[in-house]
Amino acid sequence: MVAAESAVPQTACDYHVAMQVDLRESWWIGGVEVPTRLVLAPMAGVSVQAFRRQGRRFGAGLVCSEMVSCAGIEHRNEKTLGYLRVASDEHPLAIQIFGSDPVAMGEAARLVEATGADIVDINFGCPVRKVTKTGAGATLIDDPALACRIVASVAAAVDVPISVKLRRGVRNGSRDCLTVGPQLVVAGASTLTLHPRSAQQMYTGTADPQLTAELVELVDVPVVASGDITSRARAQAVLATTGAAAVMVGRGAQGNPWALREIVDGDHAEPTREEVVAELVLFIRETARELGERRASGFLKKFYGWYLGRGRFPRPFKQELVVLGSTLEVERRLIAAAPGALPLIDELERELPSGDEVTLELPISAYGGG
Ligand SMILES: Cc1cc2nc3c(=O)[nH]c(=O)nc-3n(C[C@H](O)[C@H](O)[C@H](O)COP(=O)(O)O)c2cc1C
Repeated sequence: MVAAESAVPQTACDYHVAMQVDLRESWWIGGVEVPTRLVLAPMAGVSVQAFRRQGRRFGAGLVCSEMVSCAGIEHRNEKTLGYLRVASDEHPLAIQIFGSDPVAMGEAARLVEATGADIVDINFGCPVRKVTKTGAGATLIDDPALACRIVASVAAAVDVPISVKLRRGVRNGSRDCLTVGPQLVVAGASTLTLHPRSAQQMYTGTADPQLTAELVELVDVPVVASGDITSRARAQAVLATTGAAAVMVGRGAQGNPWALREIVDGDHAEPTREEVVAELVLFIRETARELGERRASGFLKKFYGWYLGRGRFPRPFKQELVVLGSTLEVERRLIAAAPGALPLIDELERELPSGDEVTLELPISAYGGG
């Protein structure tokens, strides 16, 4: 009897913890249905199309482009426009823009909508000086009136829903997201994503989901919880204790799409070497098509460590790959290490939608966008 009684939730918090949240449940951002409660984070220098497509295959319900400069869009910078390519297997997809001029942001949003994005995401989280010194990114949390004008201008410019991604505030310990967040919703945001670190913290310390829980109580739109989510247990705990509609996963998915599957489906199976090589080779091929060989060659180096680490391959193997001269050589070396990957690669290639060949040269922006 005692045991049965103690299993009954006594407080709201106990109740949330007792609930098993179904990550395969769909939810809505305005009129856009998001099929799972996992969102793949926007990451500058990471969120190329291959990353987003892979994220969808492994269970992300929503994927997001890295932050795209509104000024670049305004000036029709050819390279910036390259970020706005949307493939048929990416939907629903958010394209994230950053800038500080409401009119220009509205114009940029119009172009983003025209490219086929399902959601326009606004970056109020980037802590990097290159961005904040222009008055964009996380600094806008310090200027709620301007932040609201930006959101209102973007919302008026497009028919698709607007999402906003923000930090807890600019300075350590700040709780400004709790005053600014509700104002952004009134201005027209259909969802908020909170990364509850301060801009000053960059990526140090830990994200504080207590703030996410408080924000959820204050707004009547879905809130997405970002920060330090790397496992199903953590995702379940954050969803249950914050009341967030979804979790966002960033660094945990770098070179590790299997983490997404674990989070969404509870599938703990570690990938075989063949599976790792197959995913990495597909990633290399797609990225080379997207960025062109020269750019892809440098861009991909960090991914080798991310994929091959975690005890999957001996450390010197990664060192071998980063000094090879072309992505084709890397591919050959990988397949030599795991020949059984070949049929898996063929299968993955077959599943890609046809007609999505990508040949534009795209820029890689500085890291650290939010
Ligand atoms: C390399 C890198 C680049 C990032 N770029 C962006 C970005 O372009 N836009 C953005 O809103 N957040 C950006 N972020 C922040 C992530 O979206 C996410 O909020 C943060 O990393 C916390 O989640 P995590 O602990 O799951 O990584 C970036 C993070 C990293 C590590």
